[in-house]
Amino acid sequence: MYSHGCLGILVGWLLLLQLVSLGEGVNLTEFAIRYAPYLRFDQKEGDSEMCFPHNAADYYDLRMSGDSSRQCNEDYNSITENQVPTYWRAQICHYHLHIAYWSFFGYNHDCDCCSGERDAWWESVVVKIRDWDLGEHLHEVRFGQKHGWYTRIPGHYEVQEDTHPVAYVGKTSHGFYHDDGGTGTCCYFEDWRNVGGADDHMETWHNLVELTPDSEETWMTNNSTDPWNGILSPLFRDDWDLCNLNGCTGSSLQVCGTCGCHKSDTDDDPF
Ligand SMILES: *[C@@H]1O[C@H](CO)[C@@H](O)[C@H](O)[C@H]1NC(C)=O
Ligand SMILES: *[C@@H]1O[C@H](CO)[C@@H](O)[C@H](O)[C@H]1NC(C)=O
Ligand SMILES: *[C@@H]1O[C@H](CO)[C@@H](O)[C@H](O)[C@H]1NC(C)=O
Repeated sequence: MYSHGCLGILVGWLLLLQLVSLGEGVNLTEFAIRYAPYLRFDQKEGDSEMCFPHNAADYYDLRMSGDSSRQCNEDYNSITENQVPTYWRAQICHYHLHIAYWSFFGYNHDCDCCSGERDAWWESVVVKIRDWDLGEHLHEVRFGQKHGWYTRIPGHYEVQEDTHPVAYVGKTSHGFYHDDGGTGTCCYFEDWRNVGGADDHMETWHNLVELTPDSEETWMTNNSTDPWNGILSPLFRDDWDLCNLNGCTGSSLQVCGTCGCHKSDTDDDPF
């Protein structure tokens, strides 16, 4: 039996819980900045037709104006001077906050002697912040590459300045991996990621642009694959709903084709 007073407190609590779970009054941009990835590039990135991330709005506007020329950002200064955005989206999933970070590339070069090249490519890292409202801590990180992905737990990926997960970027296909290496073939884990003495890197948190359907950047509202050479932009993909991701895709054996599950710490469990 509840008195009216007890009921009032209970209702108050429920309202508070609902506010917290909706994330009212929370500045998600600050979370996005704090956990944005630190990208590390192959030492050959920036050489002819090995491209750094690219401004998606510039690329889109060019394509819409009828210009179909190759767009490859070979200018490392554009990275160090924070001219190229990284696109993000955050979503509260109960106790956890999921943030996806997307990089755009204007062109992927051949991943072996003679295959794999294409215009326009998107890659993502998704981070899971556990207990974001009580005792936030960076936990799983999902690395995307080559139409697939895999998930690593803390200690099984590197971090920069405590909160920024490190992603190594494949030289030609631009997949994001938790480790360096590669053997220079088109197989799933084999794109070169040799940082070398160049140590080219990108602190993505200095230029973040939120992905939102009501953006002033017109490319974000276009659901066509045409501007992106046959693929969809992040807003119209199956993984737009960050609360319904899984841990990996593909074989758990290391094969040449899609085998993200081979390096996943969480199998293909819900992310
Ligand atoms: C959220 O945080 C960002 C980064 O610190 C800041 O620029 C922005 O003004 C904040 N937004 C609100 C509504 O307080
Ligand atoms: C794409 O967007 C247009 C409006 O710009 C809309 O009419 C159409 O239904 C959308 N298509 C899909 C598959 O969402
Ligand atoms: C989206 O892109 C397609 C293909 O490039 C173009 O035809 C269409 O006009 C664009 N839609 C909008 C709403 O700008």
